[in-house]
Amino acid sequence: MISCPQAFAVVGILLISTAGPGEAQGLPSARKAILDGYAAAAKQNDPTFHGFSAAAGQAFFLAHPGVGQPETPSCSACHTTSPLNVGRTRAGKDIAPMAVSRTPDRFTDTTKVERWFTRNCRTVYGRLCTPQEKGNFIAFMASL
Ligand code: HEC
Repeated sequence: MISCPQAFAVVGILLISTAGPGEAQGLPSARKAILDGYAAAAKQNDPTFHGFSAAAGQAFFLAHPGVGQPETPSCSACHTTSPLNVGRTRAGKDIAPMAVSRTPDRFTDTTKVERWFTRNCRTVYGRLCTPQEKGNFIAFMASL
């Protein structure tokens, strides 16, 4: 677990380094706003919250919790075990890599992010994900 200022510093540096000129500059701040929202919610749930962990996000991404739908036992069932890879839907369509370094507009649209967390957390974990889990997940995807 890395502490809050460090976690955000690391994420911030990575986002700056992946941002291109012009319009892409809005993407890191959009992503940071989403992470800040999850941090505020996580802090409300747990006053001892002190930052997101990319390592915890990786463990969450690779886990097979055994409680979701049998055909989607893990996030990696569709997104593959490496977020750098192109994934595949159950219908066989490509999914752009989840890693921010490969797909720079990842996690920049709150509505899209929330819609897919809701859907995919239900299918894999059989429940909604917590703000801490969502923040860890995005921290992992931004760390690659
Ligand atoms: C059944 C296949 C499938 C599984 C399993 C799956 N996903 Fe996804 N996920 C998708 C598809 C399809 C999209 C939307 C296409 C895209 O964004 O390229 C998506 C998009 C997302 C997004 C939106 C990303 C963005 O650009 O904002 C998030 C967040 C996400 N998934 C998280 C997860 C998490 C967390 C898990 C495991 C709990 C998971 N997914 C498991 C298929 C899956």
